[in-house]
Amino acid sequence: MVGWGTVCGSPAGANIVANLIIGPRTAGATEGHHIANDLMQWYSEADMPVFKPAKPRIAIDKIVTTSSDSPLCHVSVGKWMETSGHPLKSAERKDRCARVAASTAYRLVELLNDWKNGDYETTADFSAVKEHGITGQMNCGECHNDVPSPPMTTIKS
Ligand code: HEC
Repeated sequence: MVGWGTVCGSPAGANIVANLIIGPRTAGATEGHHIANDLMQWYSEADMPVFKPAKPRIAIDKIVTTSSDSPLCHVSVGKWMETSGHPLKSAERKDRCARVAASTAYRLVELLNDWKNGDYETTADFSAVKEHGITGQMNCGECHNDVPSPPMTTIKS
């Protein structure tokens, strides 16, 4: 998946792990599915990176944090790059993404512990919209001003 700029590998990986542990979404919304939904929303809203390593790979006194409003890599990384001024290939950006992975793994463990203890409740209120007959998070216009029409405009949602 590297380089495609689609869903960030951290929530993607965490959600696969959640489904492996709790079971796949075979019918309806199971707890595993809720945890994935929670993680996607948490990832989008958190000031990333949340996790502060005891021994960071590179010495950054105060790392810039940004909230992506999206689980997409190119949006999450892009907003951080703009705010921090660090380019994609910089050591700082790589360290940032390593911390994002750790932050997300940590959050997953918290959710799974709640589930194991019987205390898990979903927190996400995201519901997919279907403005164009395709489900999605319709906030791409924040940066892209020309959203193409879907090819299947005759298909009713
Ligand atoms: C924070 C700004 C931002 C948001 C929000 C954003 N994008 Fe992007 N997107 C970019 C930038 C910048 C590029 C160009 C990256 C490059 O070429 O280096 C890009 C490139 C793309 C590309 C590749 C375009 C091409 O010509 O190959 C696709 C596809 C894309 N975005 C889809 C989306 C979708 C779908 C959404 C909403 C779910 C979205 N983007 C939201 C900033 C954004």
